[in-house]
Amino acid sequence: MGKVSKRAASILLMKEHHTLFSCPICNEGMDVDEDGQVNCNKNHSFIIAKQGYVNFMVKPTTSMYSKSLFESRKIILNSGLYDPLQKVMTKYISNDSKTILDTGCGEGSHLERICSSLDNVVAVGIDISKEGIQTAAKYYENKIWCVGDLANSPFKEQSFDIILNILSPANYDEFSRLLKPNGKVIKVVPQSNYLKEIREQAFAQSEKETYSNEQTVERFKEHFTNFQQERITYTSELEPELVPKLLEMTPLGWHLDKGISLEKITIDLDILIGEYNRNDIKR
Ligand SMILES: C[S@@+](CC[C@H](N)C(=O)[O-])C[C@H]1O[C@@H](n2cnc3c(N)ncnc32)[C@H](O)[C@@H]1O
Ligand SMILES: [Zn+2]
Repeated sequence: MGKVSKRAASILLMKEHHTLFSCPICNEGMDVDEDGQVNCNKNHSFIIAKQGYVNFMVKPTTSMYSKSLFESRKIILNSGLYDPLQKVMTKYISNDSKTILDTGCGEGSHLERICSSLDNVVAVGIDISKEGIQTAAKYYENKIWCVGDLANSPFKEQSFDIILNILSPANYDEFSRLLKPNGKVIKVVPQSNYLKEIREQAFAQSEKETYSNEQTVERFKEHFTNFQQERITYTSELEPELVPKLLEMTPLGWHLDKGISLEKITIDLDILIGEYNRNDIKR
């Protein structure tokens, strides 16, 4: 039997899990037809692309991130630089989680690698950047990849056990709407020494050299219950061929001469964990 095309595989996967979706224009439920159209009851329609993703954007947007940036991000993530982070995040995801959504998933490697240690989970990634989602759909199968705005997402209320939000903007009202009553948000924010070797060279003696995530942590705590926080800090050696990839994957590196020497790099991140809070639901 021939290999099923990416689009055909996505149609099947999205059809099977169509109850996760709600129309980003009118909030009605959605269905997926044989031709690969995702339709709501009021006939708003979104097409599954041949690469196996669906674009749910309702207004045009431009992204500061290029395809090449996402390819660099993928190489860095698959080099294992963020493996300790992914391992700690996985610790907070219980085995009976059935649905997981990565908001601002970029090129999808975090979601792919985190799900590799989970059984039978339906994984969905959303990002506003078409380039990011196209890269995700190109490399990673058996996941639902959506171009969309995490502040106006195409998903039904109370659909997800786990919402991931890694180094990306957040919308807590929307996250609260999407979480199941026993669900959890796992958010990753930079700590003061994150990528400090790049920061030191890019912003020497300027105020951007120091960074605090205190306000972000406070806002998170206001929205979710059973708050936990874990800091993860480590410094890794860098293979020379990874240096240009690392400089390209973060806006911090865009200011730097590509010839700079970088032998090691520090990862310093806070993982914020919070649970569904009934009092946070606005509608
Ligand atoms: C720094 S990148 C992080 C990507 C990925 N989580 C990672 O750690 O590799 C931030 C991501 O957030 C996405 N983003 C920004 N605003 C968004 C929005 N309103 N809805 C969905 N994604 C958004 C960007 O397109 C970008 O891919
Ligand atoms: Zn609709």
